[in-house]
Amino acid sequence: MIIRQEKFKDAAAIRRVHEAAFEQAAEADLVDALREDDEAAPRFSWVAVADRGEIVGHVLLSRIYIEDVPSLALAPVGVMPVWQRKGIGSELIRQVIDDAREAGEQHIVVLGHDSYYPQFGFERAIDYGIEAPFPVPAEVFLVMPLVRNGLTGVKGTVRYPKPFSAV
Ligand SMILES: CC(C)(COP(=O)(O)OP(=O)(O)OC[C@H]1O[C@@H](n2cnc3c(N)ncnc32)[C@H](O)[C@@H]1OP(=O)(O)O)[C@@H](O)C(=O)NCCC(=O)NCCS
Repeated sequence: MIIRQEKFKDAAAIRRVHEAAFEQAAEADLVDALREDDEAAPRFSWVAVADRGEIVGHVLLSRIYIEDVPSLALAPVGVMPVWQRKGIGSELIRQVIDDAREAGEQHIVVLGHDSYYPQFGFERAIDYGIEAPFPVPAEVFLVMPLVRNGLTGVKGTVRYPKPFSAV
């Protein structure tokens, strides 16, 4: 299994990963829309490649704002069903987090399972005074500083680029 950054030719295979993982097209459509959206740049996009060259997992970070402070949304992450629960999703998430940190990014927001994301360092956003722009249970709206004190003085409502409103 190789974990590497997305290449131009990967787009169709990435679509197939999300369509299979989520059993619907919405997340695949989101990835394609975010790729085209200027407001969503920069993006950090990593894939997992199986031995035969097949792309079996993908994770994307893209630009959002907490009030006027640039942040990143982790969305979506998906692994082909037969490849799930083998550590691939976790490895993708660790790699994309490292990539963003090395690029100087300060924090990441995710809407996801509270049983899965805390292992990477995500905590309840509301505990930092950070809120979603839509109604969501507090335990699934999470945030992670990428550096010490990365969230100091950062609070308010998260603002997503347009492609998210379709999901
Ligand atoms: C969530 C997902 C990306 C995790 O990738 P993965 O490679 O299966 O995950 P890992 O092997 O690294 O970690 C396994 C852990 O993920 C969690 N997990 C995996 N699938 C899960 C599911 N369907 N529901 C809840 N937790 C799940 C469990 O904690 C699991 O640990 P366990 O096997 O000890 O129970 C993958 O299961 C997936 O694509 N799911 C469908 C799409 C999705 O829900 N994406 C995330 C949206 S928040």
